[in-house]
Amino acid sequence: MELKNRFIRSAIWEELADEKGHVTAELIKHYIELAQGGVSTIITGFSSIMEFDQPTNNMNGIYDDVFIDEYKGLTTIVHEYNTNIIMQIVHGGSKWGPSAVEHLITKTTPKEMNKKDIKEVVQAFGDAAFRVKEAGFDGVQLHVAHGFLLSMFLNPYYNRRKDDYGGSIENRAKIVFESYKSVRDVVGEEFPVLVKVNSEDFMDQGLTAEDSLYVCKALSEMGVDLIEVSGGSYSSREGEGPIRGNLDKKEKQAYFKEYAARIAEEVDVPVALVGGNRNMDIMEEILNQTNIEYFSLARPFICEPDIINRWINGDIASARCKSCDGCFGVRNGCQYI
Ligand SMILES: Cc1cc2nc3c(=O)[nH]c(=O)nc-3n(C[C@H](O)[C@H](O)[C@H](O)COP(=O)(O)O)c2cc1C
Repeated sequence: MELKNRFIRSAIWEELADEKGHVTAELIKHYIELAQGGVSTIITGFSSIMEFDQPTNNMNGIYDDVFIDEYKGLTTIVHEYNTNIIMQIVHGGSKWGPSAVEHLITKTTPKEMNKKDIKEVVQAFGDAAFRVKEAGFDGVQLHVAHGFLLSMFLNPYYNRRKDDYGGSIENRAKIVFESYKSVRDVVGEEFPVLVKVNSEDFMDQGLTAEDSLYVCKALSEMGVDLIEVSGGSYSSREGEGPIRGNLDKKEKQAYFKEYAARIAEEVDVPVALVGGNRNMDIMEEILNQTNIEYFSLARPFICEPDIINRWINGDIASARCKSCDGCFGVRNGCQYI
């Protein structure tokens, strides 16, 4: 896959699919706007690999072969603008989890998965990736971050299992490695397979930076093509989740940079940094001083879908995004700018 620049649109739940996850005219329009805006690669909003698991409303589906033709239409249009499009695939862990532990925020308790369930999820990741490739996407990204199912397995607070999927980080990561392998076996060596991972969970008994590094190194050795480094989840301490506000001070921007820089130093695959990238000088400094090679942005594209063209054309003022999170549920777009 070739990238025309170092900017990636990180995954954003668009809330534009229909209630079963099917493509709508609005979703296509949204992606055309983004593809026209200059970004090298768009990562879709998280897309559900099992029909019963839809952690949010109107999210994209990829749980059935019927989706293949619908997405072919989408990828064809995006490619007309010389832009890559990658689908992010997810199991939300909304009803199934590693252990029957009540979620700190949603207060729901998932069913503790048995080994048959784990096998089904691993298989569903592979099946979804097959559809992604058939539909003409440029790559697939496994969502291993933000407290969804795979990230929950990595987290010792939510994963209390006593079998070989719980305990040590090697065990907690087993379902991640199996899902990656299931995807790779189906799409082959040449098709880009990306992961979005948490650098740390930022909560008591969450995934630590050391354990995250172990997971990234192992995935790198297994042949993953790019690691996008994020962090946190709904369960994180106040202000330490993946989507942070208050980025006026430059020091607060690019908030996972130390973690991503360390990972980039220790793995053999490209690393993208996501979270609070707003200013060209800061990104350039990170590019020059670390091994981080790509910069993912999410919220800035909601109010400025053409931000990359603006930067390319010489207006390098910071993203206009105020990082206020008023956009949550992109259907309404940015209400403040
Ligand atoms: C409305 C909204 C929806 C999001 N949906 C997803 C998603 O589907 N998958 C994902 O990995 N991250 C999702 N994120 C997180 C972003 O990809 C990104 O990690 C985070 O917003 C930090 O980057 P930013 O500061 O550039 O916004 C979402 C963020 C927002 C604001």
